[in-house]
Amino acid sequence: MEDVLIKIKNIKKQFETGEVITKVLHGVSFEIDKGDFVAIMGPSGSGKSTLVHILSFLDRSTSGEYLFEGQNINEFDDNKLAELRNKKIGFVFQSFNLLARTTVLNNVILPLEYNGARDKASAAMKALKSVGLEHRLDHFSNQLSGGEKQRVAIARALVNNPEVIFADEPTGNLDSMSGQQVMEILVNLNEKGKTIILVTHEQYTANTAKRIIKIRDGILESDSSVQSRVDLKNGLVK
Ligand SMILES: Nc1ncnc2c1ncn2[C@@H]1O[C@H](COP(=O)(O)OP(=O)(O)OP(=O)(O)O)[C@@H](O)[C@H]1O
Ligand SMILES: [Mg+2]
Repeated sequence: MEDVLIKIKNIKKQFETGEVITKVLHGVSFEIDKGDFVAIMGPSGSGKSTLVHILSFLDRSTSGEYLFEGQNINEFDDNKLAELRNKKIGFVFQSFNLLARTTVLNNVILPLEYNGARDKASAAMKALKSVGLEHRLDHFSNQLSGGEKQRVAIARALVNNPEVIFADEPTGNLDSMSGQQVMEILVNLNEKGKTIILVTHEQYTANTAKRIIKIRDGILESDSSVQSRVDLKNGLVK
């Protein structure tokens, strides 16, 4: 039996802003196994970010079931959820979300401040080495290129050794060369066993994943495995 990491059933989400109710997700169900590499695609405004925010505990659904490693997330209070998030989840944003006048090293140390980890600096250096940035430890993050910023963000997402990494359009603000480097790192992490959940609107990027889930107007449109995965290192289809 496969090891199920995420199981959602009939997830709905609406936002309430004053009198206005915006219904975004209309009942989404799927399972994601540990070690999978899933690309989530769909038109702008279809609910992709809303969905990954719920899956990564940044937000809660309005209704529906969510089991993470078999645990019912709806029963977790905010503190317990934040704790689980810190331990199990790494998140990479399109706009990097680094602290600007803070060194690369301290940006990556930050998630470790909440969990009492010992030897924070060496864990952060190890994560930075894995993304090829061990020579930039003392730079302020606003002194880096976009591609370097995103690699710092990946190191920050990795430093707690999470079970799963979410990346919401991680290459959206990058030139194609830096975007390719970022994708190579994600592919590599998946090959080492990390579960990766990637939001992208580029078919080529989605084809580096093992499976593509398409969302349209807040419902699941399709869910299929990728027949010919892109091999980024050789620029070829495997
Ligand atoms: N906090 C919020 N309050 C009200 N409406 C919201 C909120 N967050 C998202 N929405 C609405 O939900 C819909 C889906 O937004 P979402 O960000 O999930 O789309 P998306 O698929 O990620 O789009 P994109 O490809 O442009 O990033 C949009 O119509 C958006 O305006
Ligand atoms: Mg989005």
